[in-house]
Amino acid sequence: MKAAPKKYDVIVVGSGIAGLSYALRSAEMGYKVAIITKKDSTESNTNYAQGGIAAVTSISDEVNLHVEDTLKAGDGLCDQAAVEAILRDGPKGIEALIQKGVEFSSLEDGRISLGKEGGHSKRRILHVKDVTGKAIEKALLYAVDKSSLIDTFEHHFAIELITVDKLLRAEKKSSESNRVTGLFVLDVNSNKVETYEAKVVLLATGGIGQIYQFTTNPSIATGDGIAMAYRAGVAIENMEFIQFHPTAFYSQKRERFLITEALRGEGGIIRNLSGEAFMERYDSRKDLAPRDVVARSIDSEMKQSGAAHLWLDATKIGLKTLRRRFPNIYDYCQERGIEIDKEWIPVVPAAHYLCGGVKTNLSGETSLPGLYACGEVACTGLHGANRLASNSLLEAVVMANRGSESLKDYLSKTEPFSLESIQWVEGDLEISDERVVLTHNKEELQRAMWDYVSIVRTSNRLERAWNRLENLEKEINEYYWNFKVDVSLLELRNMITSAKLVVECAVQRKESRGLHYTLDHPSKLKNASPSIVQKAF
Ligand code: FAD
Ligand code: SIN
Repeated sequence: MKAAPKKYDVIVVGSGIAGLSYALRSAEMGYKVAIITKKDSTESNTNYAQGGIAAVTSISDEVNLHVEDTLKAGDGLCDQAAVEAILRDGPKGIEALIQKGVEFSSLEDGRISLGKEGGHSKRRILHVKDVTGKAIEKALLYAVDKSSLIDTFEHHFAIELITVDKLLRAEKKSSESNRVTGLFVLDVNSNKVETYEAKVVLLATGGIGQIYQFTTNPSIATGDGIAMAYRAGVAIENMEFIQFHPTAFYSQKRERFLITEALRGEGGIIRNLSGEAFMERYDSRKDLAPRDVVARSIDSEMKQSGAAHLWLDATKIGLKTLRRRFPNIYDYCQERGIEIDKEWIPVVPAAHYLCGGVKTNLSGETSLPGLYACGEVACTGLHGANRLASNSLLEAVVMANRGSESLKDYLSKTEPFSLESIQWVEGDLEISDERVVLTHNKEELQRAMWDYVSIVRTSNRLERAWNRLENLEKEINEYYWNFKVDVSLLELRNMITSAKLVVECAVQRKESRGLHYTLDHPSKLKNASPSIVQKAF
């Protein structure tokens, strides 16, 4: 029997800071909202954020300085209007989180505790110890649970956007202009694909860290939103700018636990295997230079010496501060036999953040009417070629609030588009019994991206990566069309698409700027512009 579509005003895909903030704002405006999230609702990059959220809240700081620092880190590719608009709204974004119950850490005298990270000229990072993301996630989820207008669907995987073009125009059945009309979603527990209908879909699916062999990102970060948007013909921007965090805990396993930059803000020093505090040879800002500079310096030291890791020396910070300010890191290292007040921490760089993504304007609108994007999946122009530390949580909360006016306008002027007759066609396809191919292909993808498309690139390495990705794409597409879909198949398909977009943008950029450094074009062009990819539909 044909199941009726589930109908909402707004469908939010993702339950990190961006999706939850947007869902709450939409519900506050009286709209009926569905949150679709592929695992437990806490599982997101947001939940692992450590250092904090950057905003001007102190009288000794100024928004202009935050703007200046962001533009400098972005290396000439930020959209200045976006930087100014988002950072000016920063204090309002913080206020929204406090109102939802986030209790930022304070000093003994009651003033709010402000941390410092690379590229910031002032102390301006609000934080909850070193578990800021978890505290934000908890407060927002509590507010969502209390809202009668929001339904949350955990273990539901958004597969594909449904658009007018996909339904009608490809068969020339209608002159209606293209827009989003809903989503196909896999209920992971029942293994059934359901149809969701809405005039507005918000992508808040986060980043793509999992396309790399070593990443600070949890397993959800597979680029699903970017791949879905790309397949629907939406403009994607600046995918070559992948931020590698300089200091992830080194272990023999794949896991890369983050050691927050805020530790360097309190006096932590990176040392090479000879114990030298080498950053002063690379940049006058030493350990607090922007992340692209620190990651490249570490890469160069490791390549010169052949070392498997470097050291982070936090011994000068003192036990009391370490335990009060960084309890999560302190415990993590202690469980692995390292007393960080006395011993150095082994660290390596790891893929951390995607600066590019689905191109949006300052209302979160993408190039496809009805499709919005917010958070790490989106590219607003704030980060340019390199994100300033702790600007991403802020961007997500500010953009979730900014989008609301245009949402009201769009919903009021748009007619519903019925999906009553629309269903995912599955036929009698089987689940493949060769799952091992998926595991091998995923590992091959992650290794190729790590080896050929990481901190230092060359045209040859990019070409090698592209050829491997093309082969992987051919294989995964065969799987997609011949077998029943499941999460690992869908994620791998999206990871391959996201990886191809990274390489395509990297090939377009014939210069080195911010996070994109290539030995074949080591200098900067005079007039650089964002790289854009858009699939013809
Ligand atoms: P996420 O929080 O990643 O949420 C994405 C959501 O989408 C998840 O719920 C996921 O399950 C869901 N999803 C994805 N695909 C699908 C699908 N197909 N169907 C259904 N659901 C889907 N930034 C800072 O500003 N300050 C920090 O201190 C900081 N520390 C960080 C530390 C770590 C270890 C990491 C990994 C990142 C850190 N960042 C930090 C970056 C920041 O956490 C992220 O950029 C931000 O949290 C992204 O929020 P988001 O809501 O856009 O996405
Ligand atoms: C960190 O705490 O070092 C991460 C901050 C960020 O990614 O912005």
